[in-house]
Amino acid sequence: ELQAILMIVGAYLLGSVSTAIIVCRLMGLPDPREGGSGNPGATNVLRIGGEKGKKAAAITLFGDMLKGLVPVAVAQVLGFSPLVVVLVGFAAFIGHLYPLFFGFKGGKGVATMLGVMFGLSLPIGLAVAGTWLFVAKVLKISSLSALIATILAPIYIWFLSAQMDWVWVTALMTLILFWRHRGNIQRLLNGEESLIKVKSEDGQ
Ligand code: G3P
Repeated sequence: ELQAILMIVGAYLLGSVSTAIIVCRLMGLPDPREGGSGNPGATNVLRIGGEKGKKAAAITLFGDMLKGLVPVAVAQVLGFSPLVVVLVGFAAFIGHLYPLFFGFKGGKGVATMLGVMFGLSLPIGLAVAGTWLFVAKVLKISSLSALIATILAPIYIWFLSAQMDWVWVTALMTLILFWRHRGNIQRLLNGEESLIKVKSEDGQ
């Protein structure tokens, strides 16, 4: 119906707003599309941000998560069907990857997908984000922790909600996220993927 379509289009447009590009511009940092991995995402903002990197990356992560969380939560509150709810999240995710406002060249979708997971339910969000944080802490590789967390996401959803529409649409998101990480996967296989390095305020 029309309302559902409006929600989905709205979520796509919101997803299209790249937090990384805006935050870097506002904080006087280089364009994340032109440095490091070239990806407009929190990991690359941390990589290129120097001493402002940690703060800029935290804001980027938070903003990109909200893009997934807010539309899904709104769709839940308005009482849309589980399928529409997850399609709204999928639209925000696609907006982040293929943004209307930035020549359809967006990010890799990790933060936005995490936000969508929290919008589906708090336990689902905690399970996926917890896995992501834990693996990142242990292995110190952002891409690998995202790949592990998102491949588990449909399984977590199966156990925590048994909502099959959420399982399938999330599995599709995971598949697209893996495709967007194909360069990272190649680097991981070659043992060349960069480690997460957090610079302190004094640059050490
Ligand atoms: O969020 C994207 C992350 O998984 C990898 O980013 O910049 O290392 O390619 P990057």
